[in-house]
Amino acid sequence: MKGFLHLSDFSPEEVRDLLELAVRLERHPEPEALKGKILALLFFNPSLRTLASFQAGMSRLGGSSFVISPGQGTWILETRDGVVMDGAAAEHVREAIPVLASYADALGIRSFAGGADLAADLADSTFHQMAEVCPRPVINMESAVDHPCQALGDWKTMDDLGIPDTGGKFVLSWAWHPKPLPLAVPAAAVHMAALRGMEVTVLRPEGFGLPEPVMEGARRAAALSGGSVRETAERGEALEGAHVIYAKSWTSPVHYGNPEAEAVFRAGLRDWCVDEDWFADAAPDCRFMHCLPVRRNVVVKDAVLDGPRSVVVREAENRMWAQMAVLHRLLRGSGGN
Ligand code: CP
Repeated sequence: MKGFLHLSDFSPEEVRDLLELAVRLERHPEPEALKGKILALLFFNPSLRTLASFQAGMSRLGGSSFVISPGQGTWILETRDGVVMDGAAAEHVREAIPVLASYADALGIRSFAGGADLAADLADSTFHQMAEVCPRPVINMESAVDHPCQALGDWKTMDDLGIPDTGGKFVLSWAWHPKPLPLAVPAAAVHMAALRGMEVTVLRPEGFGLPEPVMEGARRAAALSGGSVRETAERGEALEGAHVIYAKSWTSPVHYGNPEAEAVFRAGLRDWCVDEDWFADAAPDCRFMHCLPVRRNVVVKDAVLDGPRSVVVREAENRMWAQMAVLHRLLRGSGGN
């Protein structure tokens, strides 16, 4: 494996193979597997789980890591090409990334969407430009339109809980939020569930449909595994028989880059907050999933989040086991991508 940029770079069999390794590492620790290896973690945006789980995972495998958060004790970094750097940024990623890579064996990068230009964000160009100047394996710790580490942990969570792949009903539901949020997690979740072979429904109000390239990618993934992908605004029929309700807010592509108009557009949608009654016609053991962080009583009610359906902490833990498998493959090898 040469890097871990997108789940779409992997076949369903390759993902399952990686998750078998994750389970093995969970059950049978390998505290010296990555002895002497160093992971650099470059965070342009905040994190709790991603930062802590990569550092903990690297330590559990006997390696070490360091964290750079540009502008917080280190230079502000410029990511745009061809600009006159007479502003706040003292250094360009074209130098900074090869420098960091020279100290490490792999580099994780978190770089959220700019949120102004939908086409540029869908192309994930900032992230890819950084990955291209890195001479070491790169791990996507959340880019403009993808969060493959979250997807991998979520797949493992569903496996752990015995949630069916073929025939399993996965509902990704939009939820209200005070801010327009990126497309990375919903895009990753819909792709992951489709690649797992599930019957995927994207439940969202009108005007919040995921962009066509995201849906098209998910449909291609579904075709590999015998799953399906559709979208609807009809909550009742979407939730019928669901095995998973995965909540997430995302910005309306209709008003992308215009937060004022987007705020007006979503103003009447506060009832898109997952509550107990959403599960009335779902499968009896239907689970609630969310990547975290989550705003209580905004995205989901306390009763759901504190109840037996919620698996959000398990998802967060599985980030670590899944990422350990990625690190193991990247830094110890064994072929494939
Ligand atoms: N789910 C997730 O990536 O969490 P953090 O933003 O806290 O890393």
